Amino acid sequence: MKSRVALIAALSWSVDARSAVEPHVKRLNNGLGLKPALGWNSWNAGQCSAASAQFALDTANKFISLGLKDLGYEYINIDDCWSTKSRNATGHLVPDPGKWPNGIKAVADQIHAMGLKFGLYGCAGTLTCAGYPGSEGHELQDAQTLASWGVDYWKYDNCYTPCNGGRVQTCQSPQGNTRTWMTTMGTALEKSGRKIFYSLCQWGRDNVWTWGASVGNSWRMSVDNWNDWASVVRIASAAAGMSQYAGPGGFNDLDMMQLGNGKLTAAEERTHFGLWAMCKSPIILGNDLRKVSSATLAIIKNADLLAVNQDSLGKAATTFQPPGAPKPVSGQIYPYWAGPLSDGVVIGLVAASGAATLSVNFKDVPGLGSQSYSWKELYTGKTGTGTNISFSLSSHDMAVVKVKTK
Ligand code: GAL
Repeated sequence: MKSRVALIAALSWSVDARSAVEPHVKRLNNGLGLKPALGWNSWNAGQCSAASAQFALDTANKFISLGLKDLGYEYINIDDCWSTKSRNATGHLVPDPGKWPNGIKAVADQIHAMGLKFGLYGCAGTLTCAGYPGSEGHELQDAQTLASWGVDYWKYDNCYTPCNGGRVQTCQSPQGNTRTWMTTMGTALEKSGRKIFYSLCQWGRDNVWTWGASVGNSWRMSVDNWNDWASVVRIASAAAGMSQYAGPGGFNDLDMMQLGNGKLTAAEERTHFGLWAMCKSPIILGNDLRKVSSATLAIIKNADLLAVNQDSLGKAATTFQPPGAPKPVSGQIYPYWAGPLSDGVVIGLVAASGAATLSVNFKDVPGLGSQSYSWKELYTGKTGTGTNISFSLSSHDMAVVKVKTK
């Protein structure tokens, strides 16, 4: 009897241990999103007024002239407010002629001719969050429209969904509803005949990280990044607990970048970009690239950090607790982060609660041992060889250290 109990305990332990690292989800297999998406989206850059052909094409040109395309930035995505306020007589979505004088397809074609991809935004409810037509009841028709226009990426929002009773952004219950309508659109996209990256945006409801990979290529895991340090802290601290759900084909989406939008300090921009890159979030720029500063450009063009984000393993970093370090506190950014890479380990040190000197011995870092390693800090370019690292960081700044194991 005793041995049977022990056997059951051992079995359940092994199941738990495995599900903790490799959740049992059949991952969406549309061949897209094998690495986190890299691109730009209009919303943070100018909300409704930025949802235009002009802004999309100007940004596509900037992707080329600023060298962003060469670094892998690919998607030019237009967010809410691109359509007219009502569907046409056949029930189709109509691009606002003031913003899209030649329609959507002409712009998608131009963007494709530049070697880039084009994305659009929609919503699972009757209206989008800004009050434009949503896809509820029109999912197949809209998926076909997107395919006919050559759309490559579809961000799908959660306003005015059935349980909201007509009110915006209140869909909290019953649990599981968001999965229903996110799946309806996913099935419609699959039937459209075009491979369309599917970006779920239901603000982290219904523990989306546990099932998002079976439905979409990425899933927002929180409400918006509101362009302040508090948002960076809120989102990054939550992301640490869901690293195991990220992988090729489906990633936690920490929301669009706020670098270059005038609120974050240079140090905060480094931490925002560094943690998003390490957590394998899509990196969807949210600034006006026609006005970008050289300081912000240097961060978003950091090839070493982009390589961390795009590493073929697709495994997200999370926090680790070195001996003697305090325990992580919910809602705060922990100072010590690490994640595996195909040729090493990336370590993040974050001075989230004020200027600090942060040090680690490599032997305390998951994936490393007590021998000497070569390392490089990816923002300063500083290199070294040894068994430990130590960085003095200003308030809200971070160091990102790549340690080579191969
Ligand atoms: C929000 C969404 C934002 C943006 C906005 C547009 O629900 O989280 O990323 O798309 O709607 O109205």
